[in-house]
Amino acid sequence: MTYEDNSELNPTDNTSIGAVVEDRMQDLSRRGLLNGAAATAALMFMGASLPKQAAAQSLSEVPEMRPAKLGFKAVAKNLADILTVPEGYTARPLFRLGDPMAANIPAYKNDGTDAAASFASRAGDHHDAIQYFGIDAGGNYAAASSTRGLLVMNHEAITPMFLHAKGPTMTGTGATQARTASDEVMREYYVHGVSVIEVERAANGAWSYKQDSRFNRRIHTLTEISLSGPAAKTAAMITKYSPTGAATRGTVNNCAHGYTPWNSYLTCEENFAGYFRRTAATDDAKRSPKEIAAFRRYGVAGTGRELWATVTPDTADNLYGRWNAEIVGATAADDYRNVANTFGWVVEIDPFNPASTPRKRTAMGRFAREGSWLGPVRAGRPLVWYAGDDSRGEYIYKYVSDANWDPADATRGLAAGDKYLDAGKLYVAKFNADGGGEWLELKFGGEKINAQTPGYAFADQADVLINARIAADALGATKMDRPEWGAVDPINGTVYMTLTNNNAALRPIAALDAANPRHFNDARTNGTAQYGNANGHIIRWQEAGDNAAASAFRWDIFLFGARAAADPKNVNLSGLTADNDFSSPDGLWFSHATGICWIQTDDGAYTDVTNCMMLAALPGSVGDGGAAGKKTVTSTDATGTVKEVTTHVGAPLGDKLARFLVGPAQCEITGITESPDGRALFVNIQHPGEDTKPADVDNPSAWPSHWPDGGMSRPRSATVVITKNDGGVIGL
Ligand code: FEO
Ligand code: CA
Ligand code: CA
Repeated sequence: MTYEDNSELNPTDNTSIGAVVEDRMQDLSRRGLLNGAAATAALMFMGASLPKQAAAQSLSEVPEMRPAKLGFKAVAKNLADILTVPEGYTARPLFRLGDPMAANIPAYKNDGTDAAASFASRAGDHHDAIQYFGIDAGGNYAAASSTRGLLVMNHEAITPMFLHAKGPTMTGTGATQARTASDEVMREYYVHGVSVIEVERAANGAWSYKQDSRFNRRIHTLTEISLSGPAAKTAAMITKYSPTGAATRGTVNNCAHGYTPWNSYLTCEENFAGYFRRTAATDDAKRSPKEIAAFRRYGVAGTGRELWATVTPDTADNLYGRWNAEIVGATAADDYRNVANTFGWVVEIDPFNPASTPRKRTAMGRFAREGSWLGPVRAGRPLVWYAGDDSRGEYIYKYVSDANWDPADATRGLAAGDKYLDAGKLYVAKFNADGGGEWLELKFGGEKINAQTPGYAFADQADVLINARIAADALGATKMDRPEWGAVDPINGTVYMTLTNNNAALRPIAALDAANPRHFNDARTNGTAQYGNANGHIIRWQEAGDNAAASAFRWDIFLFGARAAADPKNVNLSGLTADNDFSSPDGLWFSHATGICWIQTDDGAYTDVTNCMMLAALPGSVGDGGAAGKKTVTSTDATGTVKEVTTHVGAPLGDKLARFLVGPAQCEITGITESPDGRALFVNIQHPGEDTKPADVDNPSAWPSHWPDGGMSRPRSATVVITKNDGGVIGL
């Protein structure tokens, strides 16, 4: 156990890390890493021929080969309310819920009394995806800058009881439950969305964020956002807020992310549907069959998860009524009947232009969009982004731009977005049993997507994009075990995606297939049964001809989550050990400095034994399991029904997979980025203490977590920065 020594995150220790930030360029060049000048040249890969089949991306250096082994000792699973990293590493909180982001904002009291309006300039809650953009002394993008940068991050959701003095103030119960404190709701509006902060590394190696940076910005549920692409300005996007359908107010449930070769940030709207209030029993009577089908497919029904629509009286600009998706006015321009159509998109933000209006890119499709991951960037070829729809039984998508990449667009900001993100083709993945797969285009007017599609008469391509799930159903795409993050290997272009888990109800044993092949009982230590694919897996694919825009691919399963002690033949198929067993992979990311694949978990299954974690992996490539990788898995469900499925498994990783971090109590680990030199990792810790009972609001000693501030403090989501005590590259 290492967390009792220097690896424990000690929030009261404000001394410098004392890291020796020496020049280790010799080390770097020995491992094929690039120096600063060469990193700038790496940017030019986009416009020049690539070395081998390297998947050069814009934000960082790219190693030529992966290291032979990991350079740290695995940390042990644990349930402690601390953040554990390996010996020789230090993790420190950098940016916590409520931290001030402007000069005149006071320090966060964290007792529920901080003024609601101040949250427009404070860190949001539930930190999620995060991206580092290096900047130079003039504030311009600088790919190789490892001492000064912008961190852009998502704030997915909230833990309401810790935002307010006594948790949310309510009246009523059940369907009549209502929010009565509008200032609390305003606070919640502000802590959703996105933060842009400037960070810098001091001469002693310590990182901090700059409270008064001109780049600091919050984008939240009240920010004006324009709609662009084929679905913009169509009838389905008209609201009282924007009678032309050209804009919407805010972004919500920002989960994972993406970025572009022109250095913009793509925040992705995941479980948006639950925020809207719509009583189907009465509203359906006013709706067309198509509208009802769309609401059902996307789950737009219910009270609204934070009950924002219940605040009375409403304001003239419908600050609260905007969350009511029911028909209440004469026309679509008089109410918010269409508001849910304006969420579920990729939202492009230019972090270098704080005055710019973000744009929702409708050509990329609408679903519970986890993220948007850029494929290999090559001049003269289309740009490609991969995405998952994070719900059990949903699909994996790929967007291919119509325009071919021109490196001259790298400095054009959102204008480049208009070119590459507003016109393209959207595909959905079908995984075949033989280890092959195909991308099926969501195109209006095709054989299966048209005005005769059973159950939904599509009108045009905008209708297809808004209702991408229904179009993907029509194409017979493969229903996956809840797609979470994707990541593209910078060395060979292989695409990875986590399938976090599934349960017996949504993946019954009869519905197993080669790409989602397991159903088992992941029994907890107290004997409680957990049937289904309780621990999840990570799938990967290689596009045909090493062409990201290809219509075919080869796939295998990179890793299966499991307890180390689980049945090696049917459950622990990747041979996990005590040093690397995990459950429910969620965050996934490749370091461009080292080629290490980082895996983060958001788990509810193995939590009898350990808090959520982050692991480092050194992957091979699709098919590296060879003939032995073709495995027939025998599954057994709770009723004793047995089914055999043959799947394709990658080579076991052995000690090329190791647990690097375990988080504090009841958190999820999600979001990771790095300084371009690979010497600092920025990792987000989301919702520590999330299962705190509301009845315990005045009883801090009963709270499961006080991380990161310790004592009897309220827990806070936070970004931590992880450095190696000798100043070296993380993971090596
Ligand atoms: Fe927001 Fe897919 O987790
Ligand atoms: Ca996630
Ligand atoms: Ca999650």
